[in-house]
Amino acid sequence: MKKIDVVTTSKSYPVYYGKGLFSKLKFLIDKNRLNRKIFIVVDENVHNYHSTKIDSFISGIDSKVCLYSFNANEINKSSSRLNDIYSALIENGFGRDTLIISIGGGITGDIAGYAASTFSRGVQIIHVPTTLLAMVDSSIGGKTGINFDSTKNIIGTFYQPEFILIDTDFLKTLPEEEFICGLGEIIKYSFLTGGEFLKKIKKGLPKSLKLNTKLLLNSIETCTKFKARIVENDERETKGLRKILNLGHTFAHAIEVERGHTIKHGQAVILGLTCSLYLSRKLGIINENHFKEYLSLLLKAKDRISLNFFYPMKIYEIMKRDKKSFDDKIKFVLIIEAGNILVDVEAPANMVLESINNGMDHFLVS
Ligand SMILES: NC(=O)c1ccc[n+]([C@@H]2O[C@H](COP(=O)([O-])OP(=O)(O)OC[C@H]3O[C@@H](n4cnc5c(N)ncnc54)[C@H](O)[C@@H]3O)[C@@H](O)[C@H]2O)c1
Repeated sequence: MKKIDVVTTSKSYPVYYGKGLFSKLKFLIDKNRLNRKIFIVVDENVHNYHSTKIDSFISGIDSKVCLYSFNANEINKSSSRLNDIYSALIENGFGRDTLIISIGGGITGDIAGYAASTFSRGVQIIHVPTTLLAMVDSSIGGKTGINFDSTKNIIGTFYQPEFILIDTDFLKTLPEEEFICGLGEIIKYSFLTGGEFLKKIKKGLPKSLKLNTKLLLNSIETCTKFKARIVENDERETKGLRKILNLGHTFAHAIEVERGHTIKHGQAVILGLTCSLYLSRKLGIINENHFKEYLSLLLKAKDRISLNFFYPMKIYEIMKRDKKSFDDKIKFVLIIEAGNILVDVEAPANMVLESINNGMDHFLVS
């Protein structure tokens, strides 16, 4: 079984990854001597598609086990759904010796992680990511959260899991548009790492990642390793290092809110990365060759995202109240070249607005 260790100040834990690993879940719970009272928060779509293996896992548990089915969308990543999880835990007699298992994409992982970090002052959690985005990014690093009053992830904690189990078999049922969302984060990592990984992504991208198993596995491994190293050195985003993971995300989160969550997070990341490239160019941070090279990579996803209209000023206003702005100034993560990233960059309003216009214009359908 392949694994990558994440060693943070608060906890060290493994990320197990490979094909068909879900069948090893009980073995790994026993091996890691985790709590026996199990509360599963499962994405209801995932449960529908994968009921045989999830139910078989449940029937193999000889202690208390409860399944909470969750309708994963950004509206439900909320305090009311969180309260439902707390109620289900309490009504079913769960306490401090609980093990929560989240099975689903980033939304399920974020809300289940937040519940785990707060219920009974913190109980154990295992993440079983089932979307590509969650496998390459959101399940790793311990950020949990919910949305509040239409601000994304504004309430949350840092809370590391006991382990993460990535079973690529879950991806067999993942719709193509969700692969594009994972691709958004993978392109982000290729900009962060540069080098060989960027070359592989450029070469492999014309083919759907769903069909390119080798590149898929390589992406999961590379992104996980990269994020693990960043998180190890800056678990709570206090040293600035972890901020590079937000490349494209200041724009992306605002775009998601402006769209009323009708656009998926990963699609918004592709738009956000495009806007970031334009802003990097306007500020003279990136050279023209790199700009064109990276833009063409992002535009490979062009057919999968279509906008009829957008309001740049609204996006800008949402960014201003985003949690990454201090002293009423928005701080951007921008790109000099792949592998060389600048954080905490300020920019004049007119340049930000122009970057939103230029970046998002590529995805407008006429
Ligand atoms: N905590 C972090 O560090 C972090 C990082 C990046 C993103 N995020 C968060 O992650 C969320 C996005 O995550 P996501 O893209 O995984 O979205 P998601 O959880 O909404 O899942 C996307 C869709 O895919 C379905 N699905 C999940 N697994 C499936 C499978 N195997 N087969 C078929 N359908 C499946 C879900 O039901 C859902 O409809 C956002 O809320 C974002 O803020 C968190």
